Amino acid sequence: MAIQWFPGHMHLTQKAIAERVKDIDVVIELLDARLPGSSANPMLAELTGRKPGLKVLNKQDLADPACTALWLAHYNAQPDTRAIGLDASQATPARQLIEACHQLAPQRGGMAKPMRVLICGIPNVGKSTLINTMTGSRKAKTGDEAGITRIEQRIVLADDFYLWDTPGMLWPRIIVAQSGYKLAASGAVGRNAFDEEEVALELIGYLQGHYAGLVEARFKLDPIDALRDEQVLEAIGRARGGLLAKGRVNLQKAAEIVLHEFRSGGIGRITLETPEEFAGWLAAGQQADAERAAKKQARAARKKGSGRRSGQGEGAGEGEDPGAQDSPAEGP
Ligand code: G4P
Repeated sequence: MAIQWFPGHMHLTQKAIAERVKDIDVVIELLDARLPGSSANPMLAELTGRKPGLKVLNKQDLADPACTALWLAHYNAQPDTRAIGLDASQATPARQLIEACHQLAPQRGGMAKPMRVLICGIPNVGKSTLINTMTGSRKAKTGDEAGITRIEQRIVLADDFYLWDTPGMLWPRIIVAQSGYKLAASGAVGRNAFDEEEVALELIGYLQGHYAGLVEARFKLDPIDALRDEQVLEAIGRARGGLLAKGRVNLQKAAEIVLHEFRSGGIGRITLETPEEFAGWLAAGQQADAERAAKKQARAARKKGSGRRSGQGEGAGEGEDPGAQDSPAEGP
């Protein structure tokens, strides 16, 4: 099953970003340090063109520090890009942000040429928390109310440093299948858009391979490496007393526990992808996507051809009997 969600107000947000970006010096993308690749919006580069980019790996207190170091090095090696790690416990995140932006756009600064920065990120990545910490205020989230999609008034972080906030944005289609599960596990996707048991099983699958010791310690389990993911979920449910009639485990409850424990950092500091793993998934996803597109194109060409032939031979109109030439073996 693929995770599906409704990308609320996405088109308006996109339009607003495209308009605003003309007068922007640096684009900050807030990423979830536990899933930097999956939480990066693949549409953002298209929208912001070649503007210098600051990747902020947020919630680093929940992520595996060794993996965060890998991701920071990965982004810092890219042209016109800098990356820093942050978390909500940081008392003065603004200083780090401002410094990094000045490194990316050294020509800006001072009252005559103030730094103009746009900040973007997926829902729940911690954007409001970060902005509230930086401004010392509690303000409503941008775009939280239905229909509000404008980019808010600028936030003044220093006399010569202006920040524009954008509504949390998810994109409509994911190419990397693994990313859907990771986004759901992290809390970026609304509850109704996914099956918690399925997402918990995917999460357990990854944890078994990378953080088995943490899972065993947290839920007081015997070694889990030889178990199937369903068996681990059942063991967790049993350990936490989530039982139904006749001693059956309440798997829904167990799944909720696993997701909650992951999101709150209860299991430990965990990152769900390394740059190398993500690059592999992305390449596979792009290949599958290209194959799907090629099949679709071939089907469309065949339909067109058969329409023309039947039009010539029998005088029938184009589009009659659509799909009659499709091979069912091709799939969607
Ligand atoms: P958003 O604007 O990007 O949608 O995210 P928001 O700031 O609302 O943060 C989403 C959740 O993530 C909040 O928790 C917030 O406290 C938490 N959070 C934000 N930054 C960090 C961080 O650096 N580290 C950790 N561990 N958590 C962070 P919540 O449970 O949804 O709300 P609340 O109970 O904290 O109010």
